Amino acid sequence: MANAAWMVASDHRGHGVERRFAEYVIDQARERGYLGMQFNVVATNTGAIALWESLGFEIVGTVPDAFRHSSAGLVPIHVMYRKL
Ligand SMILES: CC(C)(COP(=O)(O)OP(=O)(O)OC[C@H]1O[C@@H](n2cnc3c(N)ncnc32)[C@H](O)[C@@H]1OP(=O)(O)O)[C@@H](O)C(=O)NCCC(=O)NCCS
Repeated sequence: MANAAWMVASDHRGHGVERRFAEYVIDQARERGYLGMQFNVVATNTGAIALWESLGFEIVGTVPDAFRHSSAGLVPIHVMYRKL
């Protein structure tokens, strides 16, 4: 298992940086023998959820009230997973 946090500088968002990086990480993990990949994604983060779904991840579970959002209060976290 490995952990990662994903953030693209705000003035470079929307240009495909994250998609290319995510594809690279998936390929590298597969080459290194990982069998699956899982992320916890805050449910309000619709952009990240759309990205991971477009790359074959699905929501396999949701933890209620798992993240204290600065404006939305306690929000769920989705567990997103795909086989490699
Ligand atoms: C989420 C984040 C990493 C995306 O990085 P990015 O380089 O702008 O993303 P890309 O340009 O590669 O877009 C990839 C996909 O993400 C989704 N996406 C990105 N920004 C989006 C937005 N504002 N609204 C909806 N979908 C969005 C789309 O599905 C997009 O697919 P497309 O290429 O078909 O348009 C970036 O916005 C970020 O750093 N956000 C703050 C930190 C964060 O939320 N990290 C994720 C934690 S799981």
